Amino acid sequence: MADTATPNVIRRADYAPPAFLIDTVALEFDLVPERTVVRNTMRVRRNPDASHAANLELMGEQLEFVSAAIDGAPFANAHAHEHGLTLDNVPDDFELTLTSVCNPAENTTLSGLYVSGGNFFTQCEAEGFRRITYFLDRPDVMATYTVTLRASKADYPVLLSNGNLREEGDLPDGRHFARWEDPFRKPSYLFALVAGKLVALEERVKSGSGKEKLLQVWVEPHDLDKTRHAMDSLINSISWDEERFGLELDLDRFMIVAVSDFNMGAMENKGLNIFNTKYVLANPETATDTDFANIEAVVGHEYFHNWTGNRVTCRDWFQLSLKEGLTVFRDQEFSADMAGGARDEAARATKRIEDVRVLRQMQFAEDAGPMAHPVRPESYVEINNFYTMTVYEKGSEVVRMYQTLFGRDGFRKGMDLYFKRHDGQAVTCDDFRHALADANGRDLAQFERWYNQAGTPRVSVRTKYDAAQQRYSVTLTQGYGDAAPAARDTQKGPLLIPFAIGLISNDGRDLPLQLEGETRASDATTRVLEFTQTEQTFTFVNVAQEPLPSLLRNFSAPVIVEYDYSADQLAFLLAHDSDPFNRWEAGQRLATRELLTLAGRAATGVPLQLDDSVVAAFARMLTDETLSPSFRELALMLPSEAYLAEQMAESNPAAVHAARQFVRKRLANALRQDWLAVYEKHRTPGAYEATPEASGHRALKNLALSYLAELDDPAEAVRLASAQYDAANNMTDRSAALSALLNAAAANGGSVEAQQALDDFYRRFEKEPLVIDKWFALQATQRGSAQRPVIEIVRKLMAHPAFNLKNPNRARSLIFSFCAANPAQFHAEDGSGYAFWADQVIALDAINPQVAARLARSLELWQRFTPTLRDGMRAALEKVASQVKSRDVREIVEKALA
Ligand code: TRP
Ligand code: ZN
Repeated sequence: MADTATPNVIRRADYAPPAFLIDTVALEFDLVPERTVVRNTMRVRRNPDASHAANLELMGEQLEFVSAAIDGAPFANAHAHEHGLTLDNVPDDFELTLTSVCNPAENTTLSGLYVSGGNFFTQCEAEGFRRITYFLDRPDVMATYTVTLRASKADYPVLLSNGNLREEGDLPDGRHFARWEDPFRKPSYLFALVAGKLVALEERVKSGSGKEKLLQVWVEPHDLDKTRHAMDSLINSISWDEERFGLELDLDRFMIVAVSDFNMGAMENKGLNIFNTKYVLANPETATDTDFANIEAVVGHEYFHNWTGNRVTCRDWFQLSLKEGLTVFRDQEFSADMAGGARDEAARATKRIEDVRVLRQMQFAEDAGPMAHPVRPESYVEINNFYTMTVYEKGSEVVRMYQTLFGRDGFRKGMDLYFKRHDGQAVTCDDFRHALADANGRDLAQFERWYNQAGTPRVSVRTKYDAAQQRYSVTLTQGYGDAAPAARDTQKGPLLIPFAIGLISNDGRDLPLQLEGETRASDATTRVLEFTQTEQTFTFVNVAQEPLPSLLRNFSAPVIVEYDYSADQLAFLLAHDSDPFNRWEAGQRLATRELLTLAGRAATGVPLQLDDSVVAAFARMLTDETLSPSFRELALMLPSEAYLAEQMAESNPAAVHAARQFVRKRLANALRQDWLAVYEKHRTPGAYEATPEASGHRALKNLALSYLAELDDPAEAVRLASAQYDAANNMTDRSAALSALLNAAAANGGSVEAQQALDDFYRRFEKEPLVIDKWFALQATQRGSAQRPVIEIVRKLMAHPAFNLKNPNRARSLIFSFCAANPAQFHAEDGSGYAFWADQVIALDAINPQVAARLARSLELWQRFTPTLRDGMRAALEKVASQVKSRDVREIVEKALA
């Protein structure tokens, strides 16, 4: 995108410290939905470390300016404008009091102060605080906050803000107040308030040093029966951070509040985390096993931000991954420890596989398109567009690599030094890297490239065995292939890649590893090679037979490995690799290769066939009782259509769908008896348990059901699914049964059983918005057929009384599910999906730019698609570009069209 077209590009290189600092903030709110008055008294002084500025420039948006006073006297030289407030010729050190008005009732952006379900909530990250009051709304301005809330006691009985409750009481006219003090300095993006009719589940726990802490999960009264799991997850998070990182909860009280209108997952406001209801509310009847796991992960994530993000925060938004990548890494480790403890590698691998799937499907795709950016971006137009897979998930992989290089103990030493140096500060990704380097006595200059180069690195591998010398050499070459244009010009040189490797003998065992120059083999049968040059050869000695290499074990770096395994070798690794991740990976490679061949045939109309050896490899996995059910479920799941389409020279969703469906049907029919046996064997009768074991059984059983629904004669699957639907005592089984019924019926344009189950589901859960979201999503992601394209169903559902474009969860459940999770239907040749997409992006743009921009991204890879689809996609993008107003959506579509 040319800079001239968008003059508002913000660049990392332009960072300058703020001309003024704000040390204390006293906020007073008179909460009224249409007209909330905010009085803000700040202690302001000139920043000794910045160049002089006569005027104080405060940010402000959508505010009605009322008055300004300096040191108690009215100040006339204050000018409100579109972007904030300018105060001319201010003193060096003064008290500034500002009064302004905002309109929470009309705030559909869900940024700043807004009303949802009759209650007040705030969302300030990244730049929402300026929609509440005039401020230096940037993370390197840290202050202590005192907050006084006043509101009608009948309408808003609960008044919450950050920190500790200092005082509360009644006021005249049926109003009341509460005063909160947060003892810790914080940037404005961590400010929060909540007011309304809410109730809390409470627990008192003792932290490591013996102090008592009050924990609360606040929800609407009818949701109180869905808070236990979030509370347990919070209690576990608190213990885990003490044990693993020696980090204790620093406040006497820690609150989680659930709100149904929310732009993302959750927000780590100091002491007052605000969550999308989706990541709080769960009981067995309404939430799936995946929901339970997601809640644990997100509760952990926000809690862990208390140290990685809040106690040590970001200097500027280019450093976002400093807190997000690190905190994602911490929540991933937390979930793995909860599932398998520190030692159960197989159970930990399940979590690792799930995380890598997301990374490869979503982040690698981002790197291949116009939004490709480094973990630490160089520029942005709208910061909200940079809460991305790259910043979060690749950022987490970058943090994980420190641990892979230095071990858990070395990583812990680095974290300790990071907090010792930077507690209470706003810092950079470089500061984090330096702490890790210094604590481990290493120079990590080269490692900076992981932060400043966009694109997915490729490592190609060549191996050579010298039988006479018993030497085995592994030559690694790194590069970026033909990376996306946006990534190409940022490449500065080779990366430090921790490359974990094992060598496997022909009886399937790990061989001892001795590198040239070492006196003997190490005990470990996995070695982390430090691969630092463009090309580098590692030679293993005393290798008695030609081994099969197990490459990039546990996915030790976020790269693509290119190595020419034969199908037999992959089947062997799938059966024998001691590294559970790579065992799964071998199956994925085998399936991906086969599916891409088939997709190529489908694209040119050649008849499809599947090699018996692939069916045999699946059969072995399906019946291997030595493996955990959850692992088998992951191994038997084919790569997603989106991932496969991405791997094609020209993405062809219809061909991918045809190929994948062909394989699913073939596996269903060929292994029918095995699927049936697995289905019966892994039922979980009796009361629902949310344990990893029980959920593994359900996952494998429901995968079997989904394969059975592909049978040429699905009568038996329909019978099983109907029975499962009726008897289910939990949402995992009920929604899996409904999904199987919908897909079994797709080829016939629907079935009585599917329709009955859909109607029953709606009636049963009419009062549970999160379940109705599932009802929309299941229909939007169903298979569909020529007689009954899913777009028609989606269009009809848009008019359903329960549909509401203003609620992001609802919009996501129908529109995003269709546009981003049903590629074969969305990319219909007639362009109907694209026209629908354009209309919805334009409609959302006027309501909620952040959500609109997310939806806008579902067309960003348009140039990688087959030519027959490209024109329709470009036309839809151009239509959106010509009509949208928000900076958020403009940045996305302009980059896509550039
Ligand atoms: N900091 C939040 C997290 O990762 C995410 C976040 C950023 C967010 N901006 C937001 C959440 C806006 C909700 C709305 O935990
Ligand atoms: Zn986060």
